[in-house]
Amino acid sequence: MKAIDIRNKYLRFFKEHGHNVIPSAPLIPENDPSVLFTTAGMQPLVPYLLGQKHPEGTRLTDYQKCVRTNDIEEVGDNRHLTFFEMLGNWSLGDYFKEESIQMSFDFLTKELQIPVEKLSVTVFAGDEDCARDELAAECWKKAGILDGHIYYYGKDDNWWIAGEEGPCGPDTEMFYDTGKPACSPDCQPSCDCGKYVEIWNNVFMEFFKDKDGKYSKLSQKNVDTGLGLERMTMLLQGKKTPFDTELFKPVMDKLQELQKVDLIESRRIVAEHLRSSMMIICDGGRPSNVDRGYVLRRLIRRAVRHMNKLQIDLNEISTLIGIYVENLKEMYPELANNKETIIATLVEEKDKFVKTLNHGEKEFAKAMNNCKQQGQSKIDGNVVFKLYDTYGFPPEVTKELAEENNMEVDMQEFEKLFKEHQEKSRQGATQKFKGGLAGNGEIETKYHTATHLLNAALKVVLGNDTHQRGSNITEERMRFDFNCDHKMTDEEKQKAEDLVNEWIKQDLPVTVEEMSKEDAIKSGAECMFIEKYPDTVTVYTIGDISKELCGGPHVKHTGEIGTFKIKKEEASSAGIRRIKAIIC
Ligand code: SER
Repeated sequence: MKAIDIRNKYLRFFKEHGHNVIPSAPLIPENDPSVLFTTAGMQPLVPYLLGQKHPEGTRLTDYQKCVRTNDIEEVGDNRHLTFFEMLGNWSLGDYFKEESIQMSFDFLTKELQIPVEKLSVTVFAGDEDCARDELAAECWKKAGILDGHIYYYGKDDNWWIAGEEGPCGPDTEMFYDTGKPACSPDCQPSCDCGKYVEIWNNVFMEFFKDKDGKYSKLSQKNVDTGLGLERMTMLLQGKKTPFDTELFKPVMDKLQELQKVDLIESRRIVAEHLRSSMMIICDGGRPSNVDRGYVLRRLIRRAVRHMNKLQIDLNEISTLIGIYVENLKEMYPELANNKETIIATLVEEKDKFVKTLNHGEKEFAKAMNNCKQQGQSKIDGNVVFKLYDTYGFPPEVTKELAEENNMEVDMQEFEKLFKEHQEKSRQGATQKFKGGLAGNGEIETKYHTATHLLNAALKVVLGNDTHQRGSNITEERMRFDFNCDHKMTDEEKQKAEDLVNEWIKQDLPVTVEEMSKEDAIKSGAECMFIEKYPDTVTVYTIGDISKELCGGPHVKHTGEIGTFKIKKEEASSAGIRRIKAIIC
């Protein structure tokens, strides 16, 4: 079965069980300062897990593009991916454990026809925060999971939360037995010898963990499930790695044809990082030195490095992307529309990297020789940092270079320097998830509405073709990216600021309504990715000056906002400008 067939089967199954299908949200969260990328299907749904009414009802199913880069250095082995698709089904205060487990069991055994003896499940063992999940175990038994195939684990394995704070709860995970011999008599699903592969995770989300680590009950009991599409495709096709499935194979084959040196890990890294970069760029990401732009830069630069190792002409990037677009456009139609931008962005970044690569490699060679002369086998962290800061070398590139020369690098020291640097620019990636889940306070709400006002003001000042390209809100300020081909003049900035303040003074009403996407478009409502919205959407209107698709929250009247002030206007990336503003 091909990946797209698994996706379609999944959506159809859950539709038949009363779920409405919602499309994948973009990889780059809109109006969400909390995360770099969408890392799980639950993320775009957080407001609804917390109790807000979802326009599509209480049973939803979706396929969500996700990027997780915490294991970026593991990519190259037989399973790690940075981009993947997660299939999910959702109960927002609707069904709970029994129905959720029964549906999962039926989908796996009847729809995908996985023999029941290949399935094992794990449930929460219980602790002082939450009781042992006997109900989940009972439900599995009733559904048909075999005796001896149910395991109990603690929070490390059977509890799910995104980050440190937010909606969470015990989960139950499903494992597929690959048929590999057990590594020991104790081998069980928690073992990572490769015999058991996790295929699906159902989270019974009934708690909220606050920033002090305290749990409280949510207003409703939810179910959040996630099934990794690449992994399921690999297992059902009896392949050993996702790279052997149709999702990667055509590009892997092309790399093999083009390479002059045969390195399987490098081929996987190139194939994986190019696919991930392509998806990020497609959703509006651009390489830069901070936050998600930097993650993208790392992915591209690492892919380039490994193309060099394979001795493949870097101009082949466009051929490889062409193959991906052709093969994946049925699953991700947005790829075809954005092919030119994707290739142009990759080529530009590749060119930048090539320029610094030579200098950087010389600098690295010097540092390495110094170390060797002094009889050291470890390269200082500040060398790694300098290579990163001055030559744009992602640290893992330096680490790889060192390893090729039988040297180590002091990554701990690098991390320290890197963190200091990140904190200085106040863009620390690690803090990210926290901010957003908590970030719907009074002040953030004001900034949300001010964002819509600024969007409208820029249209007046710079023309109707000016659109939002990104936004980020913290308690201290708002940041707004938009397309514009020039640096705004002082006059333009002043005019935009005055307009926003004028609208605030007018104390315009902010109203919200639900409507069909079609009506929303007809009414001229503004939004960043129209194709990503479900059929029914929420539209916020401010007086007669702004109408936008948005999840909120917003103030009731613009007068609540205070005084709006533009602090800075600068370039964000090619053709995109960025305004930082505050309200006081
Ligand atoms: N949120 C859970 C996960 O990401 C289930 O979707 O695994």
